Amino acid sequence: MDKLYWQEYYKKHEAPIEPSHFARFVLERYVSTGDRLVEFGCGNGRDARFFGEHGVSVVAYDQASSEIDELSSRNKLENIKYEPGDFTSLADTDDGVDVVYSRFTLHSVDRQGQSRALAWAARNLVDGGRLCIEVRGKKNDLYGKGIPVDSEPDAFIYNDHYRRFLDKHKLDEEVASNGLTIVSSREETGYAPFDGEDNFFIRQISRK
Ligand SMILES: C[S@@+](CC[C@H](N)C(=O)[O-])C[C@H]1O[C@@H](n2cnc3c(N)ncnc32)[C@H](O)[C@@H]1O
Repeated sequence: MDKLYWQEYYKKHEAPIEPSHFARFVLERYVSTGDRLVEFGCGNGRDARFFGEHGVSVVAYDQASSEIDELSSRNKLENIKYEPGDFTSLADTDDGVDVVYSRFTLHSVDRQGQSRALAWAARNLVDGGRLCIEVRGKKNDLYGKGIPVDSEPDAFIYNDHYRRFLDKHKLDEEVASNGLTIVSSREETGYAPFDGEDNFFIRQISRK
Protein backbone atom coordinates (compact mmCIF):
# COMPACT_ATOMS: atom_id res chain seq x y z
CA MET A 1 0.00 0.00 0.00
CA ASP A 2 1.17 3.56 -0.75
CA LYS A 3 4.34 2.42 -2.52
CA LEU A 4 4.67 5.70 -4.45
CA TYR A 5 4.03 7.78 -1.33
CA TRP A 6 6.86 6.05 0.53
CA GLN A 7 9.26 6.17 -2.41
CA GLU A 8 8.76 9.93 -2.70
CA TYR A 9 9.03 10.34 1.07
CA TYR A 10 12.43 8.66 1.25
CA LYS A 11 13.72 10.57 -1.79
CA LYS A 12 13.38 13.77 0.23
CA HIS A 13 15.86 12.42 2.82
CA GLU A 14 13.88 14.00 5.63
CA ALA A 15 13.24 10.79 7.57
CA PRO A 16 15.40 10.26 10.67
CA ILE A 17 18.52 8.22 9.96
CA GLU A 18 19.50 7.43 13.54
CA PRO A 19 18.29 4.08 14.91
CA SER A 20 14.86 4.15 16.54
CA HIS A 21 14.39 3.84 20.30
CA PHE A 22 12.64 0.54 19.57
CA ALA A 23 15.67 -0.88 17.73
CA ARG A 24 17.91 0.02 20.68
CA PHE A 25 15.43 -1.56 23.10
CA VAL A 26 15.19 -4.74 21.03
CA LEU A 27 18.96 -5.05 20.53
CA GLU A 28 19.58 -4.69 24.24
CA ARG A 29 17.13 -7.39 25.28
CA TYR A 30 16.07 -9.68 22.46
CA VAL A 31 18.80 -9.90 19.79
CA SER A 32 22.31 -11.35 19.95
CA THR A 33 25.29 -11.18 17.62
CA GLY A 34 24.87 -13.78 14.88
CA ASP A 35 21.09 -13.91 15.11
CA ARG A 36 19.14 -13.99 11.84
CA LEU A 37 16.65 -11.12 11.76
CA VAL A 38 13.99 -10.31 9.18
CA GLU A 39 12.67 -6.75 9.12
CA PHE A 40 9.20 -5.97 7.78
CA GLY A 41 9.23 -2.54 6.10
CA CYS A 42 12.74 -1.17 6.66
CA GLY A 43 12.12 2.29 5.13
CA ASN A 44 15.44 4.11 4.87
CA GLY A 45 17.21 1.19 6.55
CA ARG A 46 18.13 2.97 9.76
CA ASP A 47 17.25 0.04 12.05
CA ALA A 48 18.47 -2.66 9.66
CA ARG A 49 21.85 -0.90 9.49
CA PHE A 50 21.97 -0.61 13.28
CA PHE A 51 21.30 -4.32 13.79
CA GLY A 52 23.80 -5.18 11.03
CA GLU A 53 26.49 -3.02 12.60
CA HIS A 54 26.02 -5.07 15.76
CA GLY A 55 26.73 -8.36 14.00
CA VAL A 56 23.15 -9.41 13.36
CA SER A 57 22.42 -11.10 10.04
CA VAL A 58 19.64 -8.97 8.55
CA VAL A 59 17.23 -9.37 5.65
CA ALA A 60 15.25 -6.14 5.39
CA TYR A 61 12.20 -5.94 3.12
CA ASP A 62 10.42 -2.88 1.84
CA GLN A 63 7.99 -2.30 -1.01
CA ALA A 64 9.73 1.03 -1.82
CA SER A 65 12.02 -0.54 -4.41
CA SER A 66 13.77 2.72 -5.37
CA GLU A 67 14.83 3.16 -1.73
CA ILE A 68 15.87 -0.50 -1.50
CA ASP A 69 18.02 -0.04 -4.66
CA GLU A 70 19.71 2.96 -3.09
CA LEU A 71 20.28 1.16 0.22
CA SER A 72 21.71 -1.87 -1.59
CA SER A 73 24.08 0.25 -3.68
CA ARG A 74 25.41 2.04 -0.58
CA ASN A 75 25.52 -1.06 1.63
CA LYS A 76 29.00 -2.05 2.81
CA LEU A 77 28.00 -4.83 5.19
CA GLU A 78 27.75 -8.39 3.89
CA ASN A 79 25.47 -9.37 6.77
CA ILE A 80 22.70 -7.00 5.61
CA LYS A 81 20.52 -7.70 2.59
CA TYR A 82 17.93 -5.19 1.45
CA GLU A 83 15.14 -6.81 -0.55
CA PRO A 84 12.30 -5.21 -2.47
CA GLY A 85 9.00 -6.88 -1.70
CA ASP A 86 5.72 -7.11 0.13
CA PHE A 87 6.30 -8.34 3.66
CA THR A 88 2.74 -9.69 3.79
CA SER A 89 3.50 -12.19 0.99
CA LEU A 90 6.94 -13.58 1.76
CA ALA A 91 8.03 -17.08 0.83
CA ASP A 92 8.89 -19.30 3.78
CA THR A 93 12.59 -19.55 4.72
CA ASP A 94 14.50 -22.83 4.58
CA ASP A 95 16.14 -22.63 8.01
CA GLY A 96 14.00 -20.20 10.01
CA VAL A 97 14.87 -16.89 11.64
CA ASP A 98 15.64 -15.84 15.20
CA VAL A 99 13.89 -12.48 15.16
CA VAL A 100 11.13 -10.82 13.16
CA TYR A 101 11.18 -7.05 13.60
CA SER A 102 8.33 -4.79 12.57
CA ARG A 103 8.37 -1.11 13.46
CA PHE A 104 5.52 1.13 12.31
CA THR A 105 4.57 -1.24 9.54
CA LEU A 106 1.58 -3.36 10.62
CA HIS A 107 -0.53 -0.19 10.62
CA SER A 108 0.51 0.35 6.99
CA VAL A 109 -1.19 -2.82 5.75
CA ASP A 110 -4.79 -4.02 5.77
CA ARG A 111 -6.24 -6.57 8.16
CA GLN A 112 -5.62 -9.53 5.82
CA GLY A 113 -2.03 -8.41 5.20
CA GLN A 114 -1.47 -8.24 8.94
CA SER A 115 -2.80 -11.80 9.38
CA ARG A 116 -0.51 -13.14 6.65
CA ALA A 117 2.52 -11.33 8.11
CA LEU A 118 1.88 -12.58 11.65
CA ALA A 119 1.30 -16.13 10.43
CA TRP A 120 4.54 -15.95 8.39
CA ALA A 121 6.44 -14.80 11.49
CA ALA A 122 4.98 -17.61 13.60
CA ARG A 123 5.80 -20.22 10.94
CA ASN A 124 9.31 -19.01 10.23
CA LEU A 125 10.62 -18.21 13.72
CA VAL A 126 12.75 -20.94 15.24
CA ASP A 127 11.70 -22.23 18.65
CA GLY A 128 12.57 -19.48 21.11
CA GLY A 129 12.55 -16.88 18.30
CA ARG A 130 11.16 -13.41 19.00
CA LEU A 131 8.56 -11.31 17.21
CA CYS A 132 9.10 -7.61 17.99
CA ILE A 133 6.36 -5.16 17.01
CA GLU A 134 5.93 -1.43 17.48
CA VAL A 135 2.80 0.00 15.93
CA ARG A 136 0.11 2.68 16.14
CA GLY A 137 -2.89 1.69 18.23
CA LYS A 138 -6.21 3.29 18.92
CA LYS A 139 -4.82 5.48 21.72
CA ASN A 140 -2.60 7.26 19.18
CA ASP A 141 -3.49 10.93 18.62
CA LEU A 142 -3.91 10.45 14.88
CA TYR A 143 -6.70 7.91 15.39
CA GLY A 144 -9.86 9.14 13.68
CA LYS A 145 -8.12 11.86 11.67
CA GLY A 146 -8.55 11.98 7.91
CA ILE A 147 -10.86 10.10 5.58
CA PRO A 148 -12.20 6.74 6.81
CA VAL A 149 -11.41 3.85 4.47
CA ASP A 150 -14.55 2.07 3.19
CA SER A 151 -15.30 -1.22 4.95
CA GLU A 152 -12.02 -1.17 6.85
CA PRO A 153 -12.58 -0.49 10.55
CA ASP A 154 -10.09 1.92 12.16
CA ALA A 155 -8.34 2.76 8.86
CA PHE A 156 -7.96 6.33 7.59
CA ILE A 157 -6.19 8.23 4.86
CA TYR A 158 -4.46 11.18 6.44
CA ASN A 159 -1.52 13.21 5.09
CA ASP A 160 -1.87 11.30 1.81
CA HIS A 161 -1.30 7.84 3.21
CA TYR A 162 -3.03 4.91 4.84
CA ARG A 163 -2.97 4.07 8.53
CA ARG A 164 -4.95 1.36 10.30
CA PHE A 165 -4.94 1.71 14.06
CA LEU A 166 -4.61 -1.55 15.95
CA ASP A 167 -6.48 -2.68 19.02
CA LYS A 168 -3.83 -3.88 21.49
CA HIS A 169 -5.95 -6.68 22.96
CA LYS A 170 -6.88 -8.00 19.52
CA LEU A 171 -3.23 -7.92 18.47
CA ASP A 172 -2.31 -9.89 21.60
CA GLU A 173 -5.05 -12.41 20.84
CA GLU A 174 -4.02 -12.80 17.22
CA VAL A 175 -0.34 -13.29 18.05
CA ALA A 176 -1.23 -15.83 20.73
CA SER A 177 -3.59 -17.63 18.35
CA ASN A 178 -0.58 -18.13 16.05
CA GLY A 179 1.10 -20.10 18.83
CA LEU A 180 3.40 -17.36 20.18
CA THR A 181 3.69 -16.44 23.85
CA ILE A 182 3.39 -12.76 24.71
CA VAL A 183 6.45 -11.64 26.68
CA SER A 184 5.34 -8.03 27.06
CA SER A 185 2.69 -5.87 25.49
CA ARG A 186 1.81 -2.29 26.37
CA GLU A 187 0.34 0.80 24.77
CA GLU A 188 2.22 3.72 26.28
CA THR A 189 3.87 7.05 25.71
CA GLY A 190 7.65 7.33 25.89
CA TYR A 191 8.31 4.77 23.16
CA ALA A 192 8.71 6.95 20.08
CA PRO A 193 8.98 10.66 20.89
CA PHE A 194 9.33 12.61 17.65
CA ASP A 195 9.38 16.31 16.73
CA GLY A 196 8.62 17.41 20.29
CA GLU A 197 5.62 15.05 20.61
CA ASP A 198 5.34 11.96 22.76
CA ASN A 199 2.39 9.92 21.57
CA PHE A 200 0.94 6.53 22.51
CA PHE A 201 2.24 3.48 20.63
CA ILE A 202 1.87 -0.27 21.11
CA ARG A 203 5.04 -2.22 21.84
CA GLN A 204 4.67 -5.98 21.83
CA ILE A 205 7.30 -8.72 22.18
CA SER A 206 6.39 -12.38 21.82
CA ARG A 207 8.30 -15.63 21.71
CA LYS A 208 7.78 -18.91 19.88
C1 LIG B 1 6.19 4.34 8.69
S1 LIG B 1 7.38 3.62 7.62
C2 LIG B 1 8.43 2.79 8.82
C3 LIG B 1 9.82 2.55 8.32
C4 LIG B 1 10.80 1.96 9.34
N1 LIG B 1 10.34 0.69 9.87
C5 LIG B 1 11.07 2.92 10.48
O1 LIG B 1 10.58 2.69 11.60
O2 LIG B 1 11.76 3.92 10.24
C6 LIG B 1 6.48 2.26 6.90
C7 LIG B 1 7.30 1.49 5.88
O3 LIG B 1 6.63 0.26 5.59
C8 LIG B 1 6.72 0.03 4.19
N2 LIG B 1 5.62 -0.85 3.81
C9 LIG B 1 4.30 -0.64 3.94
N3 LIG B 1 3.59 -1.69 3.50
C10 LIG B 1 4.50 -2.60 3.06
C11 LIG B 1 4.39 -3.90 2.51
N4 LIG B 1 3.21 -4.49 2.35
N5 LIG B 1 5.53 -4.54 2.19
C12 LIG B 1 6.74 -3.96 2.36
N6 LIG B 1 6.90 -2.73 2.89
C13 LIG B 1 5.79 -2.07 3.24
C14 LIG B 1 6.67 1.41 3.58
O4 LIG B 1 7.17 1.41 2.25
C15 LIG B 1 7.49 2.22 4.56
O5 LIG B 1 8.85 2.19 4.22
